[in-house]
Amino acid sequence: MTNNQKLIRWVHEWAELCQPEKVYWCDGSQEENDRLMAEMVASGMAVKLDDKKRPNSYYFQSDPSDVARVENRTYICSEKQEDAGPTNNWAAPAEMKATLKALFKGAMKGRTMYVIPFSMGPLGSDIAHIGVEITDSPYVVVNMRVMTRMGKAVLDVLGNGDFVPCVHSNGAPLQPGQKDVKWPCAPIEQKYITHFPETKEIIAYGSGYGGNALLGKKCFALRIASAMAKEEGWLAEHMLIMGITNPKGVKKYIAAAFPSACGKTNLAMLIPTIPGWKVETVGDDIAWMKFGKDGQLYAINPEAGFFGVAPGTSFDTNPNAMLSAASGTIFTNTGLTPDGDIWWEGIGTEAPEGTITWTNEVYDKESGKPAAHPNARFTAPAFQCPCIDPAWEDPKGVPISAILFGGRRPSTIPLVYEAMSWAHGTFMGSVVGSEVTAAAIGLKAGVRRDPFAMLPFIGYNMADYFGHWLTIGKNAPKPEALPKIFNVNWFRKDKNGKWLWPGYGDNIRVLAWIFGRCEGTAAATETAIGFVPTVDGIDISGLDVTKDDIAELVKVDKALWKEELELIKEQQASLGDRYPKELKLQVEQLEVRLG
Ligand code: OXD
Ligand code: MN
Repeated sequence: MTNNQKLIRWVHEWAELCQPEKVYWCDGSQEENDRLMAEMVASGMAVKLDDKKRPNSYYFQSDPSDVARVENRTYICSEKQEDAGPTNNWAAPAEMKATLKALFKGAMKGRTMYVIPFSMGPLGSDIAHIGVEITDSPYVVVNMRVMTRMGKAVLDVLGNGDFVPCVHSNGAPLQPGQKDVKWPCAPIEQKYITHFPETKEIIAYGSGYGGNALLGKKCFALRIASAMAKEEGWLAEHMLIMGITNPKGVKKYIAAAFPSACGKTNLAMLIPTIPGWKVETVGDDIAWMKFGKDGQLYAINPEAGFFGVAPGTSFDTNPNAMLSAASGTIFTNTGLTPDGDIWWEGIGTEAPEGTITWTNEVYDKESGKPAAHPNARFTAPAFQCPCIDPAWEDPKGVPISAILFGGRRPSTIPLVYEAMSWAHGTFMGSVVGSEVTAAAIGLKAGVRRDPFAMLPFIGYNMADYFGHWLTIGKNAPKPEALPKIFNVNWFRKDKNGKWLWPGYGDNIRVLAWIFGRCEGTAAATETAIGFVPTVDGIDISGLDVTKDDIAELVKVDKALWKEELELIKEQQASLGDRYPKELKLQVEQLEVRLG
């Protein structure tokens, strides 16, 4: 399949170490996919869903111990610990490689080693990059086929070029005669999701789930790509990309970063509630952005599918996601209905009698145990999304007019405000956070900072990452063409704890103001924290929201902001002495403006 000597040597070396029964190079064809699925159905790992209800779709249940990304087992292995920074787990590369070598020795015994060539981004795009994942999990192969461009065509484009090597094993070798389990994986203390940002390598052991195993996504497209982007002067971000067309037919693209579980997929596929506006989706999770020859920042979605959280997704909350997953989709850890379809909490219907839970029990509503795990997922091809943008596979990317940051903040942070400059926008991104309740994740209640929504995904020192954002602004080939930066907050509550903003499709009303700011047509009021809409600036026609509500939603309460400032200073202090002085200056200037 290839003459790439580096690739052939690398596969050979890992095969020697892992001792698989055979090595198989994936071509990415439909025939190959159907064969692997049939083998997994035969072995009891997968269930084929009813072809009339859910054509070409399959259902999987994971091991109960292997259900999500494992941040405490995720490592950035740079030579110096300070290059990984205070927010990442660190291990010395040589030590980690020794640990991994011992674990991988014989780890694929009794199994097939699959070689998956994949492209993050449209094949041949200047912004795209190629990786090769080796894995002993056929589940990973079929998921990578949806989430990336995968197979022989990638090897043709790669030629003798360079690739990011990604190694994965479930860490569950089979001894002769040993019966396989439905979801092989290793115990938590043996799981390792490791990244080597200096040599651009990924090695993951012990987990078969999502971001731990589909190495193109969080490991490559965010952690390793963020390190590449810093070296090469571009941006790899945890952002959705959407196209917005106004009633006059003018179209602009925006990118938006929100922490996990803040509704990124819903926003990317929003159905506008005001007439004449249209939203189209380029991506729902990751954006790679580079300056084009014209000096504009262009973005691609490096992925080819959606790995969406299933519970809560319905024809009410996100019909476009439901339709994307109507066929050719892989479901993991949802419920399974007796007639061969899937079900989850919040899907909008009652669970049919006899539904099976993700732990393979008969669902009993009274028991309080859900049918779907809260992190149950659908893996759906992006081209099936009814609102997919016509330019979503354009190799040159789409020009970005605005960048949005946001989190869940019941108080203090207005519905929307605009940065005064790129450096101020960088500061806004650096203080993104969501309110957490103590009960939810066993932490101190308060604001959990998730800068740029990248806390678990920056492949190097977070303070240097802030510095990189500042440098992008300083080195912009055409500063006037830089995207404008905004912060949004759909989650403001009033004194009685009632949501002040309806959210969902009505978020287009806020996007319309942002659109107007990019065109230079929308009015704004300058405040201590940035520009906010005037009370007439947000279209509230047909809504149960008054102008007084809007005034409240965009109010900048200086007392609350002074409390916020103290928290920001604490965050700053925790990030060490590489914290950029330009951002310290932003904090000082904000303090002065707050009076
Ligand atoms: C995701 C995440 O799965 O951000 O996209 O956790
Ligand atoms: Mn994500």
